[in-house]
Amino acid sequence: MGQYLDQYRQSLEQPEAFWANAAKTIDWDQKWDRVLDDSKAPYYRWFAGAKLNTCYNALDRHVSNGLAKQAALIYDSPVTNTKKTYSYQELLDEVSRLAGVLTNLGVTKGDRVLIYMPMIPEGVMSMLACARIGAVHSVVFGGFASNELATRINDAKPSVILSTSCGIEGSRIIEYKPLLDEAINVSEHKPANTVILQRPQATASMKEGRDIDWASAINSASPVDCVSLEATDPLYILYTSGTTGQPKGVVRDNGGHAVAMMWTMEHLYNIKPGEVFWAASDIGWVVGHSYICYGPLLNGSTTVMFEGKPIGTPDPGAFWRVISEYKVASLFTAPTALRAIRKEDPQCDYLKKYNISCMRALFLAGERCDPDTLTWAENKIHVPVIDHWWQTETGWAIAANCLGLEAFPVKAGSPTKPVPGYDVQFLDESGQAVANGEMGAIAIKLPLPPGTFTTLWQNEERFFSSYLETFPGYYETGDAGYQDEEGYVYIMGRTDDVINVAGHRLSTGAMEEVLASHPDVAECAVIGVADNIKGQSPMGFAVLQSGANRNEEEVREELIALIREKIGPVAAFKMATIVKRLPKTRSGKILRGTMRSMADGQEHKVPATIDDPASLGEIADNLKTLGYPKSV
Ligand code: COA
Ligand code: AMP
Repeated sequence: MGQYLDQYRQSLEQPEAFWANAAKTIDWDQKWDRVLDDSKAPYYRWFAGAKLNTCYNALDRHVSNGLAKQAALIYDSPVTNTKKTYSYQELLDEVSRLAGVLTNLGVTKGDRVLIYMPMIPEGVMSMLACARIGAVHSVVFGGFASNELATRINDAKPSVILSTSCGIEGSRIIEYKPLLDEAINVSEHKPANTVILQRPQATASMKEGRDIDWASAINSASPVDCVSLEATDPLYILYTSGTTGQPKGVVRDNGGHAVAMMWTMEHLYNIKPGEVFWAASDIGWVVGHSYICYGPLLNGSTTVMFEGKPIGTPDPGAFWRVISEYKVASLFTAPTALRAIRKEDPQCDYLKKYNISCMRALFLAGERCDPDTLTWAENKIHVPVIDHWWQTETGWAIAANCLGLEAFPVKAGSPTKPVPGYDVQFLDESGQAVANGEMGAIAIKLPLPPGTFTTLWQNEERFFSSYLETFPGYYETGDAGYQDEEGYVYIMGRTDDVINVAGHRLSTGAMEEVLASHPDVAECAVIGVADNIKGQSPMGFAVLQSGANRNEEEVREELIALIREKIGPVAAFKMATIVKRLPKTRSGKILRGTMRSMADGQEHKVPATIDDPASLGEIADNLKTLGYPKSV
């Protein structure tokens, strides 16, 4: 039996033995009572009774074990012309002091701390400082608007917010502080304090009594030690898009997460301590949590924080420069980044300027990788290109080609096979398994492995109804796809209203809520249409209130501006159109799927239950005006 099959079977047949063995890579303060606590199934807990500290495992133990001088974090910022490397000792010193700042502000175990930061080392330091004292961090991506930030402040109720004066997007300075001030203004919950890092590119104005200057706070703080936590205590909350405007607060624990991170660094990514691993994502996303911050540091490897873009900072050779400069062993990015590079540099001429022979593999995730992009990357970069499938909820890959276990031949369009720990099933509507090759809803038999989410923040009911109710005994992933005869899985799209724009997960439902709030809009629909760089782009259709005597062009512009204001630039909502009616079934269900197929130029059947077939004609006309369908 091959390594993979052997490990995969063991992980499902003897999960306790499998994960107890994996847990040897972590330094525990106290051993567990049970590896898997199933006493409250379908709510499971891993390593119940055990104690540890995640920050200790990510920093202190490496310093004690001889890695003090080794690089822990490399910061490379083409947008500010800055490069800086922190050794494990230096990172530990910074984090211990920052933990002291939080302690001075009265933050203790279980308190929430919100982090609103761009890709600067202080972002990772903030996460680790929280982990050090048992505070639960919640990082919010910089591309979200004040309104989205406020929703998260209201839900997580942080006592302190860590932020900065600005982020830099290409050549533009984005002032974070006014966005933060506005979010605190409109939120019901008010944090007691904010700690603001003043960057040279912009100076934030400070509110006396509430806002504290980062540098002075650090200067007057003493380092603090790690607090021993329950393995089941929450490490962080990360909000992700669901089907409504209320994001889901995914909760990650300490113990299971640390074990899973370590397991993946070795068996999936095949990265050793001392090697450089670069996840070119953002700390605001799950990829940033798992593989910019925790995974590489728990493993004693070196992580890279890149404050730049794949193109334009300054050119499409930025990735290759970073790989060659820091001897990156593996790069992890989203297919959209490769498509952006390919568009600007189809022959990959910039690559010729750099020696990237240090690179062993390229990992892709965040959205479906189209075979064309995969083949282009394989031909140009000459390393295995490994698509792998995962979600904020799982925190690590559900399906992948585990290079540290057994490398399988790559099949374009497939993220290869289920990863040990995940019993992946393809089900029909009644919950029965479909045959190989047939599309089904993808569900994972419970229990999920360690490191996956344990609940939604203070909302066990929503956790149950969103994920566990449809298929009893399974976790419903929200993705659909199929498995071939050789066990390769294919992820074809979402079964819900979630779309993926440039590898960013967004909710069309949330966008519809915003459009519907426009005073002239009677009803609306938002769909994700194929985009040859970003994978998908949102497109909105609005029906105006009868009697709304408005210029349609003006309303369109207002709708686009409204989404930017309420959700943020990251929504990349640039296409809105006004229609007289939306296509619906007789029972009133908007035919979003049919509209999407029309926009993507795919064959589509007009449902027999359609109320007014002529409504599709109007949609087709409007799509044409927007330039759809286009060949992708
Ligand atoms: N703070 C503030 N604004 C941000 C932001 C941030 N952290 N991130 C993105 N934005 C803004 C962008 O500036 C852009 O604004 P604009 O409409 O004024 O131009 C908007 O949000 C949309 O951003 P994006 O979709 O990223 O488009 P882009 O044209 O700036 O860049 C790519 C396109 C493909 C280069 C970029 O999306 C990319 O690198 N994608 C990779 C995604 C990724 O790594 N995902 C993580 C999952 S692994
Ligand atoms: P996020 O929670 O932001 O990581 O987004 C998770 C969603 O992105 C998944 O449910 C999928 O729809 C999609 N996704 C992520 N990785 C892949 C992949 N490798 N192939 C196809 N879809 C993916």
